[in-house]
Amino acid sequence: MCGIVGYIGDEDIKEVLVDGLRELEYRGYDSAGIAVLQDNEIQSFKAVGKLKNLEEKTKNFNPHAFGMGIGHTRWATHGKPTEINAHPHLGEFSYVVHNGIIENYQELKKELQAEGVRFLSQTDTEVIVHLFEKSYKALNDPMQAFEATVNKLEGAYAVLLMTKVDPDRIYFAKNGSPMIVGNNDKNDIFFGSSDAALIGKATEVIYLDDGDYGYTSAKEGITLLHNGKEKTLNKKALLGDKISAQKGGFRFFMEKEIYEQSEVLVDTVMGRALDTKIQFEELDPNFFDGIDGITICACGTSYNSGLACAYLFERQAKIRTNVEIASEFRYKEPLLDPKTLFVVISQSGETADTLEALKMARDAGLKTLAICNVDNSSIVRISDYTLLTRAGIEKGVASTKAFATQVMVMWMLSLYIAQHKKTMSEEEISAEIQAIRHIPQAVKVNDKLHEKVKRLSKRYLHGHGFFFIGRDLFYPLALEGALKLKEISYLHAEGYPAGEMKHGPIALADSELFTIALMPKNIHYDKVKSNVEELSARDATILAISPERFELADDYVHTYCSDHAMSEFFEMMVVTQLLALEISVRLGNDVDMPRNLAKSVTVE
Ligand code: M6R
Repeated sequence: MCGIVGYIGDEDIKEVLVDGLRELEYRGYDSAGIAVLQDNEIQSFKAVGKLKNLEEKTKNFNPHAFGMGIGHTRWATHGKPTEINAHPHLGEFSYVVHNGIIENYQELKKELQAEGVRFLSQTDTEVIVHLFEKSYKALNDPMQAFEATVNKLEGAYAVLLMTKVDPDRIYFAKNGSPMIVGNNDKNDIFFGSSDAALIGKATEVIYLDDGDYGYTSAKEGITLLHNGKEKTLNKKALLGDKISAQKGGFRFFMEKEIYEQSEVLVDTVMGRALDTKIQFEELDPNFFDGIDGITICACGTSYNSGLACAYLFERQAKIRTNVEIASEFRYKEPLLDPKTLFVVISQSGETADTLEALKMARDAGLKTLAICNVDNSSIVRISDYTLLTRAGIEKGVASTKAFATQVMVMWMLSLYIAQHKKTMSEEEISAEIQAIRHIPQAVKVNDKLHEKVKRLSKRYLHGHGFFFIGRDLFYPLALEGALKLKEISYLHAEGYPAGEMKHGPIALADSELFTIALMPKNIHYDKVKSNVEELSARDATILAISPERFELADDYVHTYCSDHAMSEFFEMMVVTQLLALEISVRLGNDVDMPRNLAKSVTVE
């Protein structure tokens, strides 16, 4: 998805902008650009493809003096990924970068075109710069012109604008798309659409709210407005260090993130899984009063984690739970009952469909809870309650540690509700906590396992498709295993309930159909086994993942946890993640930035 950076100061502006954009690469993009304003001259560069193409284009441009600049990585929505459509977009004397979608751009564009304005690109963004210049010509005041422009925009946007008629300022506005502004001790000013772009640069930051706008300059600092009134700057220290956001010796961020799961899960449970009870300081004691059901809503991997945990909510907390795909939920005219707790799950906290579903639930008077990895994200800010997953920055587009920590938080939440509703005894809760504390061990990747999966992967590069199968909790894990594989290998893979294969998909079975069978000891082992036998009888190629050796399997990955279904779940999760990784590596794909995908999907 698109990324924005901005800078005012006397460092090498090009370096600061490109470096910031590099930190946002993980979000996915197909073109990039920067514009630099110095001595009342604006220079702009754009390139299709990766940032190295932009660096090549700017190699003879060395803006070593005080000035300002804006930059952007674009993920095409309106118009193809071409240089013309790349940002910054220019008017006669101003440049703009924008994330989000201007929903009324067509009518604005028609009006401007009727007045003789010529558009160069096919983007929605270009209307912003022309609207600004039109307003400036009428009002002769850049701030009023910017305000008038923002007032005309409908939809989601984070905007930065530079103009020669006010060469000391960068104007900004935020509505529905994330934007952060910060400064360092020298009072250099930085903008970013995610704090990843500001780490190591800004020391304090302001997370802008929807409807915020304003301007910054070296002399005036940051001026923030909302509804025409000046707003107090709510600055926060920017925590985190750049090194922890780098690859740390691994080949890919995804690989590093798979290995990190053990460590981050310790953080996820810290202070929450006490000896005999689950505690969430973030929740009021009366948090669950009056609630008689749960609706979970999310997209992609986050949806899969919700689906898995619905089994736990019903089984342990004895609470009716249904799980919804956010993009479907939004338009199905759902019946919303205020006695239902509405839980949204999101790594980024910015997924447009999940965010809109959350707003629908909030507007219908439901209590809302976000399970999220990014504090201060849009989803966190509008939810009544939040449980942070504490996975740290996840850069691989294919989500791994975010999934693991989401499942962990919801497992603890189901026990928390069970405590409240007294659906489990103290002994049962304590036993679950013991199992929780064992999980960081269960997800540790040992060399032997990784080597085994690496070797196995070479036998799974062809065929006409993969079925990941499992039952109960292991069905959502099968869905997640298949999603991981297809995202980064571009091979067709489906997750299926093992018992459902004979109702259709088994027709596909032959030696070129690869079945990844999740066969835990603790949940319906015999039933899954007979489903896998049916596939084996039809000559499907079987990779069994199980603590029990399965004679009919072509390949076998031995798992070791058999004390608890959830330890088996987490251990098998790691095997499926490594399998997807190694198949992708053998196929020569871009593991961290798979084609056509974006880390944070901020458009519907
Ligand atoms: O940030 P979110 O968790 O809301 O993102 C939801 C999906 O876009 C995301 O999980 C996506 O499916 C990932 N690429 C999965 O690896």
